[in-house]
Amino acid sequence: MTTTATPYGQDNFGFSTEQIHAGEVIDPTFGARITPIYLTAGFLFDSFDHAQARFAGEDGGLVYTRYANPTNSAVEAKLTALERGADSLLVSSGQAAITVALLGILKSGDHFLATPSLYEGSKTLFRENFARLGIEVEFVDDPHNIEEWRQRIRPTTRAIYGETIPNPKNDLIDIALIAAFAAEAGLPFIVDSTASTPYLIRPIEYGATIVVHSASKFLSGHGASLAGVVVDSGTFDWARYPDKFPQFSTPIGGAGSPTLVEKFGATAYLEYTRTIIAGRMGPVLSPLNAFLLLQGLETLSLRVERHSRNSLAIARWLEEQPEVESVDYPGLESNPSHALAVKYYPRGTGSVFGFTLRGGIAHARTLIDALEIFSRMSHMGDVRSLVLHPGTTSHAHLTPEERLALGIGPGLVRLSVGLEDEPDLIADLAQAFAAVRAAHSAPAAQSRSSPDVDNSSIGAGAIWESAPQLASSFSRSALMEPGSAV
Ligand SMILES: Cc1ncc(COP(=O)(O)O)c(C=O)c1O
Repeated sequence: MTTTATPYGQDNFGFSTEQIHAGEVIDPTFGARITPIYLTAGFLFDSFDHAQARFAGEDGGLVYTRYANPTNSAVEAKLTALERGADSLLVSSGQAAITVALLGILKSGDHFLATPSLYEGSKTLFRENFARLGIEVEFVDDPHNIEEWRQRIRPTTRAIYGETIPNPKNDLIDIALIAAFAAEAGLPFIVDSTASTPYLIRPIEYGATIVVHSASKFLSGHGASLAGVVVDSGTFDWARYPDKFPQFSTPIGGAGSPTLVEKFGATAYLEYTRTIIAGRMGPVLSPLNAFLLLQGLETLSLRVERHSRNSLAIARWLEEQPEVESVDYPGLESNPSHALAVKYYPRGTGSVFGFTLRGGIAHARTLIDALEIFSRMSHMGDVRSLVLHPGTTSHAHLTPEERLALGIGPGLVRLSVGLEDEPDLIADLAQAFAAVRAAHSAPAAQSRSSPDVDNSSIGAGAIWESAPQLASSFSRSALMEPGSAV
């Protein structure tokens, strides 16, 4: 079994050709055209000596699926090519990808800086779980202000972290600006590109060191399984900073043996993260789920193009509705991130964004309950259109003031626009807006339901009164909820 020798990933081919053919595996036994699912825990050794050689890494063959598996390797090769990286690692979820990507760099006592607008699950992971490991995160206030980044650097700072298209506010970061600062500071820049995918942007081409994805979203598209990926650009000079990143410059087998950088060169970071971090901690992706991800990847460009087209049409339509106060879609000329969208996202700005209803939580509830095509769901990047009320779900654990600081008011509704026909989606929204008008403008309805609320006073706790408080008991959903769902 071999991967194709065709040099995909070097601009010899277009994106759609690469997404189908890069990394594909030719099955030598039966000639299966589709990459087979190698559902096996481990791999046979021919003899006593063969086993010893494998464990010593002498013949490059496979040992155990926790470290590598042919199905997973084929998907990793495809993602490496699509992102223009040096190597990739598949893991069991986006959260696992973020965790192992950072633990490949950070240790107890280290500090890292992050942009303020991030997936809420990443924030709680950094603030709470990483803190328990002795790793401190600090969020900058203004990611566009390089002077602020500079001032927050400490002797223990070891990484910079950001997201391409943060949801639900879509407040884009200037990737090249932050990457240039990270390079100046001698720090790796890790970028979560879940909401953009390599079809919309390749962060490595703008100077990112490492790209992570929740592959459960657009990369898969079908919403049938979770997966995550870490892509190493291979461009960071780890050996230049032996004091900051000793794991790459310490002889692997004691004095006289090579360091990781000497042994693996540009992929030292990925090898370390694969073997020492993910390989030992164990968030392996099942080859079955790798196969499902592969089926999605082959149509990525077509889907993301349609996602973005549908979203722009819906964002424009929403902007015209009198009940809508604002629409957070950078594809709109009126959006504060539009200039960055033009610079970095000429193919479109994705499909996960928020809009704010003037009528606050009461209108949001009526609208969300009236939608028929949109699924009420905690997920994104699915072929199906989805809707969520962040203030009472993904961000419910925050105080009203914290939500206000993130721009998440009671009237904010988040959409993940799918691939259904645009007129059908707009018709669904239109009937839901009609339901809002019917429920909240009739005098009788007004007197018995919550009064219409102006989002301008969203700092006031009273507006959130009808929102459920986060359960304090240790139920499974209470454990899951604090920022851990999309
Ligand atoms: C931007 C982003 N990164 C990471 C994750 C985590 O991914 P997963 O749910 O696959 O663990 C999510 C969503 O859940 C996300 O939206």
